[in-house]
Amino acid sequence: MCGIVGYIGPRDAAEFLIHGLHRLEYRGYDSAGIATITPQGRLTVVKAAGRIQRLEELLSERPASGCTGIAHTRWATHGAPTDENAHPHIGGDGALAVVHNGVIENFQPLKQRLQAEGYLFHSATDTEVIAHLIDSCLKRHPLPADMAAAEYRPLAAAVQAALAQLQGTYGLVVMFRQWPEVLIAARLGSPLIIGVGHGEHFLASDGSPLVGYTDQVVCLSDHELAIVTAGSLRVIHHEQGHVDHSVQRLEIEAGAVELGRFEHYMLKEIFEQPESIRNAMRGRLDAHNATAKFGGLNLTPQQLRSVDRLLLTGCGTSWHAALVGEYQIEALARLPVEVEYASELRYRNPPLERNTLLFAITQSGETADTLAALREVKRKGHFALGICNVVGSTIAQESDGGIYLRAGPEIGVASTKAFTSQCTVLAMLALYFGRLRHLSFDDGMRIIEALRRLPEKVEQALESNDTCRHIAEKYAECNNFLYLGRQYNFPTALEGALKLKEISYIHAEGYPAAEMKHGPIALVDAHTPSVFLMPQGSVYSKVLANLQEIKARGGPVIAVVCSGDTQARQWADDVIEIPSVEEYLQPIVTVIPLQLLAYHIAVLRGCDVDKPRNLAKSVTVE
Ligand code: AGP
Repeated sequence: MCGIVGYIGPRDAAEFLIHGLHRLEYRGYDSAGIATITPQGRLTVVKAAGRIQRLEELLSERPASGCTGIAHTRWATHGAPTDENAHPHIGGDGALAVVHNGVIENFQPLKQRLQAEGYLFHSATDTEVIAHLIDSCLKRHPLPADMAAAEYRPLAAAVQAALAQLQGTYGLVVMFRQWPEVLIAARLGSPLIIGVGHGEHFLASDGSPLVGYTDQVVCLSDHELAIVTAGSLRVIHHEQGHVDHSVQRLEIEAGAVELGRFEHYMLKEIFEQPESIRNAMRGRLDAHNATAKFGGLNLTPQQLRSVDRLLLTGCGTSWHAALVGEYQIEALARLPVEVEYASELRYRNPPLERNTLLFAITQSGETADTLAALREVKRKGHFALGICNVVGSTIAQESDGGIYLRAGPEIGVASTKAFTSQCTVLAMLALYFGRLRHLSFDDGMRIIEALRRLPEKVEQALESNDTCRHIAEKYAECNNFLYLGRQYNFPTALEGALKLKEISYIHAEGYPAAEMKHGPIALVDAHTPSVFLMPQGSVYSKVLANLQEIKARGGPVIAVVCSGDTQARQWADDVIEIPSVEEYLQPIVTVIPLQLLAYHIAVLRGCDVDKPRNLAKSVTVE
């Protein structure tokens, strides 16, 4: 997922732009660049493949001066990660510069047409087509002598004329050499927000670069374009014209994007989970009615009562959370739930009953498969809600309503606090639907009390950190792991395996514990540890039997058990203790040592924990 930063105001633009690029590093990238313009119209462009540090080295030799600027971190789609393909891209003979996040599907025919017009291309990117196309449209529009007096509308018109020819998605910012006192920003399918300062404006793909500069933001919606100067911001819609934009408060605290006392963002976010779970529940537990309450479902209780089936969809960790939600909602609300990989749902065309309600579950709100699945189900006429972390994200904007996780920025690529917040929100949804249907007041209050105890339980689970680190030292060299659990802890096993895979690059598989007998047990040997999730519950004895089957075949066993467990420790090679909690909340507590185990193994293996190889924080392409 690319990252965009822009600035216009009295400051030295490059300083904010580089700061902003560092704040967006977590999105994953393979090249970066910056362009600034001086009031005299001197355009400087510095860009390079690799990390932002390389860009900073180049800037120390060739400073980019000026109070207007744009910058970009690129996750290569069209064209390899090279210096030439890095953004910003120049339009015409240097008349303008563009940074872009998204994919232009019809860039090839446009490129051929522009080449026929005489434009020379220096990259293999779709974005360079946008730059030259805007330049071509500028040349076709008679421009007033005094653009400022015309409020830069002719500039906006030329950009809109170019955008109208594009098929695909974009969040982009354009800077003009002849008019260094204005930036034009536009959005269709890729997020773009504008921070409002005092006599200055900040632009970014998400809120993290703005923290510490402003908490007043305008989130552009699809088909909107912004004309931004140091002291003014005008938003226009490509059909409706002028838009009275609303300024929202950016709810990201400064500490949320700083590492603080932690070595990695992932560890910081693992330890933030008691607070992020409190935030997920804040104001949503209704003890007066022994239920949960949400402000954004946009459906009446009568409409929600008529729902016959829930369809939960997502990708990766969010899909695991959906599986947890299936167990929770079917157990507590007796409401049928179906879970689908979003990448499958978008093409599978399943028969959906009329009263099926979709929840798209996503941390970033930008995952392409999840967005496509949401659009497909909406196209069939179903109400589609989002469970999302990033305010103003594309899925948050396109869903018919939903529930924000309020987990704060999740910067580590491996999702941790978002997962436990998703499971917490789904537990509250299970309570809500249960109380719409058959759960009694007392039932509801028992669930509310269990939820209220949850942050403290997670704090206790975090006390297993040292144990997890010691166990990690014992098994960090292994090349295969199995994660095994039953019922609510089957999805937790999948999630634990994914955590290990994605940050330590060790092969790991999660299975329902009973499934071992149907083939995977052939994998067991002395070098393949099996992690058993076996907190006290209805299937404990069954899982213990599976553990014994592994031990009988010489496989090392790590058991995650409730404090005081005396049985599993007779068989397991290593034990990690967690507090006991209601079964429908167990994934939220049981996953904590799995996150810690994966983290410590990855650190011991010298992996880039926050930015694992090949991965991006949000997969915005198919
Ligand atoms: C989880 O650790 C991974 N980073 C990945 O599986 C992620 O959960 C998936 O890409 C979905 O992302 P989303 O929640 O932002 O939609």
